[in-house]
Amino acid sequence: AAEGTLPRLEREFTVSSHRLQTMVRHLVNEMKKGLAQDGHTLKMIPSYVISRPTGFETGSFFALDLGGSNFRVCLVTLEGQGQTRVRQTKHIVSDELKTGTGEALFDFFAECIGKFLQELGLNPSEPRSLGFTFSFPIEQHAINSGTLMQWNKGFSATGVLKADVVELLNKALKKAHINIKVTALVNDTVGTLISHAYRDPQTYVGVIFGTGTNAAYVERIEEIPKWTGPIPPTKEMVINTEWGAYDEASVLPITSFDRDLDRASTNPRKQIFEKMISGMYLGEIVRHVLLDLISTGELFKGRSSQTLTTPYQFETAYMSRIERDHSLELSDTKAVLEDILGLQATTVQDRRIVKHVCELVGIRAARLSAAGVAAIVTKMNRLDACTVAVDGSVFQHYPHFANRMRDALRELLGIMAENIVLEQARDGSGEGAALIAALHGHE
Ligand code: BG6
Ligand code: GLC
Repeated sequence: AAEGTLPRLEREFTVSSHRLQTMVRHLVNEMKKGLAQDGHTLKMIPSYVISRPTGFETGSFFALDLGGSNFRVCLVTLEGQGQTRVRQTKHIVSDELKTGTGEALFDFFAECIGKFLQELGLNPSEPRSLGFTFSFPIEQHAINSGTLMQWNKGFSATGVLKADVVELLNKALKKAHINIKVTALVNDTVGTLISHAYRDPQTYVGVIFGTGTNAAYVERIEEIPKWTGPIPPTKEMVINTEWGAYDEASVLPITSFDRDLDRASTNPRKQIFEKMISGMYLGEIVRHVLLDLISTGELFKGRSSQTLTTPYQFETAYMSRIERDHSLELSDTKAVLEDILGLQATTVQDRRIVKHVCELVGIRAARLSAAGVAAIVTKMNRLDACTVAVDGSVFQHYPHFANRMRDALRELLGIMAENIVLEQARDGSGEGAALIAALHGHE
């Protein structure tokens, strides 16, 4: 007899311990390849960040933070002893800006900075420096220079690919008569790592599980054969892995739903790992599964809704609500399905199926994420003690995500998993960019 849809979904979305182990080994190997040479799946980008903070750094710095669910302008004051003060404004980057011209996008950044200075009563013609957190794959040429290798997370603004994003920002600032110079260009994972290290010197890894996913860690310079620059006195360098690009089909549990999502995305065949883990995509995977269950008549008596048939309308935040719904009748799930998604007269059985699908997709994401962290800690040989600073909306808000990760880490590392501390970092990138501007600003 043909396998029923639900058992098939369970089989396809479940990642065994064995598969996770294989993935860790494979990821470690891919990391080594990326460190040896350019052009591999894992870009393993040297960040030019060669020192971690001592906690005693002081001064005031501006920071811009682009690439997560908000765009922020920050003024960070480092007060020493691991203390900071942050003032910031948050903006939404509209889809028009994301997919329009690069010039409009960078002019928007300058405009937001201008407004922020005005709010603070600061004169825009006074010279200042700024750390720029730009969270996309950047080929870094110096601490304050780098070119965009690829857009992702729904961005496609023209004229930015292969351009130096620091130059683009400096140009826009000049045009707006703002006398601020970009002194550091930073990935959000690197910013998160550095800002957490300001408080906890055991921090060697920074991870984002948010709109996208990625990790950065501290590597020994002798482990980076492709590095041809000067040997830093610290003999270490923060590496931006860009692990979201991992795509090994023989290891990743890629389903037909993942392939459909990928095909229709703005960056087909890219960021496959990211598309299985991060907040931009989890809801979209569930949406594809639900449509399939509707087409076989197993859900909602075969009836869909306009919202559910529209791409990206099933948000990951709805999955969080559904996974958090422990009521007998699944009444909040009913609210999401009927009031938001416009489905009609759902039954308790329908809602149980939907919740189960969310669990399958959510658990898979957390387990794959754990394999990523295990691979990095294994590569660093720090199974004895390591703090991992983690930020992003999925880690912060998705129910059970962190615990599911911890469970999977235990499966992978046994008792050693207790030495790996996943710590919630919050809004660290701006602070990290400011710290990096402070540590490296004189180069
Ligand atoms: C924020 C950081 O806290 O988290 C950003 O400041 C980062 O730099 C973001 O990109 C990631 O989370 P999300 O969920 O906003 O993508
Ligand atoms: C994407 C970007 C990466 C970033 C991550 C999290 O994967 O390529 O640079 O760190 O999203 O924001």
